[in-house]
Order: sequence, then structure tokens, then C-alpha cells
Amino acid sequence: MFVPERKFFYFLGGYMKGNLESLLNEIKAKIAEANSLENLTDVFNIYYAKKGKISELMQLMRNIPNEEKAEYGKEVNALKEEANLLLASKKQVLEQAALSQQLEQEKIDLTLPGKNYYTGGINPLFLIKDEIENIFIGMGYEIAEGPEIEADHFNFELLNIPADHPARDMQDSFYIDEKTLLRTHTSPVQARVMQEKKGQPIKIICPGKVFRRDDDDATHSHQFAQVEGLVIDKNINMANLKATLELFIRKMFGEKREIRLRSSYFPFTEPSVEVDVSCFECGGKGCSVCKGTGWIEILGAGMVHPNVLQMNGYNPEEYQGFAFGIGIERVAMLRYGIDDIRKFYTNDIRFLQQYVRIK
Ligand code: DAH
Repeated sequence: MFVPERKFFYFLGGYMKGNLESLLNEIKAKIAEANSLENLTDVFNIYYAKKGKISELMQLMRNIPNEEKAEYGKEVNALKEEANLLLASKKQVLEQAALSQQLEQEKIDLTLPGKNYYTGGINPLFLIKDEIENIFIGMGYEIAEGPEIEADHFNFELLNIPADHPARDMQDSFYIDEKTLLRTHTSPVQARVMQEKKGQPIKIICPGKVFRRDDDDATHSHQFAQVEGLVIDKNINMANLKATLELFIRKMFGEKREIRLRSSYFPFTEPSVEVDVSCFECGGKGCSVCKGTGWIEILGAGMVHPNVLQMNGYNPEEYQGFAFGIGIERVAMLRYGIDDIRKFYTNDIRFLQQYVRIK
């Protein structure tokens, strides 16, 4: 028995007990005082950190007589637990307050004007190109492509326009060298596809850029766009051509439109026609759009010339075909009432934003 020591420890124990109580009160006061999450974290650190006051209490354990260690440990744990609960509930209160404050600050003012993003517009030329493509895809056509820098051979020779042919005058071009030029029309793609398909049936359209040495004005441009069409098979005749173009034109300009074929000349077709559509503005009575005639010229077409078939690997005795060439700007100008071809190319956003897909 070591009475004095026991007494000392009893004393210490009693002292510690009082100490625990006052420490708890101190923590409570600090928690109550904390008015932000940062403050509360500070409080936590003071008491719970490695060298914090609660850890200190645990270190004092070695001064407690063995038989009281359990009791002491329990009390320190009880204090820890209570302080923990108080911290947690205060934390919740402060978090809630912080959230409310944030929500208050972030309140959306629905009366403020919105941000206006600059979206531009799709060039009406492309709207029409897409529409033409969709109409022909709907009829089972495939889309073909060809180079814009083209060989004289494809641009002219294989289309039955030899070097000295007067038809070359109508399509003065930009030459890169004697044998190479910027294509003057999409028709060379006819020859290219025929050579590629090697005698198999063909049903293609080819949209693309073409170039001519022309002085630019409201209706002429040195660069413009066409859609070429070519169908080759056995038993293809002019009625097929007419039905195809009628369907295309009615989809493009309205179901009530009539078409008229006028005899014309292209070296690569025989017979050749210019195709007119009955005026969609006046219905045929005569107005400024149709220049009083009731008809609007829309495209060129014809039955593929036997020479062209032959030169490109098709036997004209066995195969026939029809072809057509549509000026995309012309169709777009008619559809949207655009009066100057140059507007398509100058990228004036005010012009471009006016056009939307009609269908
Ligand atoms: N290539 C002709 C031009 O640019 C347009 C044309 C006419 C194409 C009749 C054709 C056609 O395929 O059959 O003037």
C-alpha cells in the first residue's frame, strides 16, 4: 500500500476530473463562438490536433493510478464524444448557413438580357445544293466528284469538243498550262465516271465548282456551281429524262409547275434541250421574274451523244443515257428571289442570315 501516492493520485484524479469539465465548457464556448466553418476548423485543431488539448489529456493517462485508468479513459472518451457531437452539429448549422448565403448570392435574375451568340447562317447556295442532292438521292442517284483542276482531255475532248470546236468559245477558261485548266463545267465528271464504271449502268449527280473567264456582274461570275446528272443504262430514252426533270422541278419549285423542253445544242448530247419551268411567280401569265414570257429557263440537258458513249467505253448500240446540267446559283436566285449572283460569294453576314432551310 502506498497511501501517500494513492492520495496524490486521488488528488490528481479529482483535479483531472475538474479539469475535464472545465475543458468541455471551454470547448462548448469556443464552438458557440465559432461563426464560420474556418473558425470551427480552428477550434477542432486546437483540441484534436496531435498536440491539442484532448491529446494532452490522453498523455496524462500515465500519471493516473492503474485502478483509475479505466475510469479516467472513459471520461476522456466521453468528453471527446460530446465535443465531437457538438462540433458536428455546429458544422451542419454553419454549412447550412454557408449554403443559404451562397444561394442568396447566386440568385439568377431572369429579367437580365441573355447572351446572344453569333451563329451566322448557311449560304443559300449550300441550302439549295443540299436540297438538290436530297431530291436526286431520293430517286436513287449516287453523288460523284471530280477535280476542279481538270485535264483538257476530260473537260473537252471526251465530251465531243475537239480542239478546234467552236463550242469552246462559249466556255473560255483559266488555263494552268496548255493541257490543264480550271474545269469550265461539271460535265467532265461524266467522262470520269464512265471510265471508272467500265460499261456498267450509271446513275449519278455531281455537284461542284466551275470556272469561266467572264467579267463579273449581277448575273455572271468567274466561279459558280453546277450539278451534273448522268444516267446510263439499256433502254434509256428521252421520256425518262423528261419525267426525271419534271419530278426534280416540281420538288424544287412546287407541284403545280410544268416544264417545257426547247431544242438546243450541246456537243455532248444529241438531241439537246433547254428546260424551262412555268413561272412560279405569276403561274404563266407573265411577270418580271419570267420577263413576260411565263417561262423561266432552268437547265440544259439531252441524250448522251453516241460519240461520248463510245469514247468513254460504252457501246452506243447497247447503251443509252441522258445528262443534265443545273446552275445552282440560278436555282437559288429564283427560289429566294436573290437579284445579284455576287451576293453568294461576298460573305456578308446580313445577307447570309436571311436564309433558312425551307423544307
Ligand atoms: N455543261 C453544260 C454547261 O456548262 C451544261 C449541260 C448541258 C450539262 C447539257 C449537261 C447537259 O449534262 O446534258 O453549259
